[in-house]
Amino acid sequence: MSSASSETLLGWYQKEARALPWRDTTDPYKIWISEIMLQQTQVKTVLPRYLQWFEIFPDVHSLASANLDAVLKAWEGLGYYRRARFIHQSANIIVTQHYGHFPEEFDAIMALPGIGRSTAGAIASFSFSQSTPVLDGNVKRVLKRWYGNPDAPDKQLWVWAQKAIDTSNSPADWNQAMMELGASLCSPQNPDCSSCPMHQYCKAAFQIEQSSAVKKITVKNLHWRVDLHTSPERGIWLTQRPDSGIWAGLWTPPITELDQLPETPPCYIHILTHRRLHLYGHTSNHSPSGDGQWISDISQFALPTGIHRLLEKHEQT
Ligand code: ADE
Repeated sequence: MSSASSETLLGWYQKEARALPWRDTTDPYKIWISEIMLQQTQVKTVLPRYLQWFEIFPDVHSLASANLDAVLKAWEGLGYYRRARFIHQSANIIVTQHYGHFPEEFDAIMALPGIGRSTAGAIASFSFSQSTPVLDGNVKRVLKRWYGNPDAPDKQLWVWAQKAIDTSNSPADWNQAMMELGASLCSPQNPDCSSCPMHQYCKAAFQIEQSSAVKKITVKNLHWRVDLHTSPERGIWLTQRPDSGIWAGLWTPPITELDQLPETPPCYIHILTHRRLHLYGHTSNHSPSGDGQWISDISQFALPTGIHRLLEKHEQT
């Protein structure tokens, strides 16, 4: 990349970019929360949740002093709850080890739980104008196309990403522009090369086969009986999931994995990236046993979206 090509991309970005609220701030707390939310959740889902977050936890101190359940509750519906635990741990590290100030040094940012090199690159560039590249899935695709090497390994991609950002004198806008290009014109299946400002610098321009095979991921079917103990006086019996695995730390009715398929169809099927959860709501008339508690107001607890849906369906039947 040359500085002329970098100006071209930045010019396109200034004209075409979506207005996203985390692009209007350099506050590292806000940038950090947005980047963690955006790691595995789509922009349209993150948008309302980003603003809500700061009503619940306006600063890193309020986050650090909250209990984990409150943080999980604030994360409800965003999925991949491990991220909420990392945020909580990181907030405590920032308060205890960095006097409540988000660290500026790249290695210190990367040392925080849940922050890898790409997320650290985003935070360091957006908040502190450091020339640290982002290399998420979209940016990788863009670079592979520019250099005409679909199989380039990450090590090579980091070198290209660094070289490219070094040609720009606005690293924050550069990273945003790369992500924007990957999220819009330079899409996986149908790139719009004729509208792309970078086509003259791109080895793969106009050469990408449309509808090239989509990467298949393997999905495992799981069948779960969900025991619904409810009582008008006491509410519903919920138990907290273990600290690891599906829905770690969230609250659900007792769940039993079934080895044999029930004869009746599932009440609700919840799709995760690598799992299809067939949920069989089972009204139980026995007293609940084992760990758990009666909960009269489930809005105070973090429940997985799949369980909310199951409860809605079950109420309708
Ligand atoms: N995905 C990850 N970070 C992002 C950002 N800052 N803007 C848009 N999409 C993103």
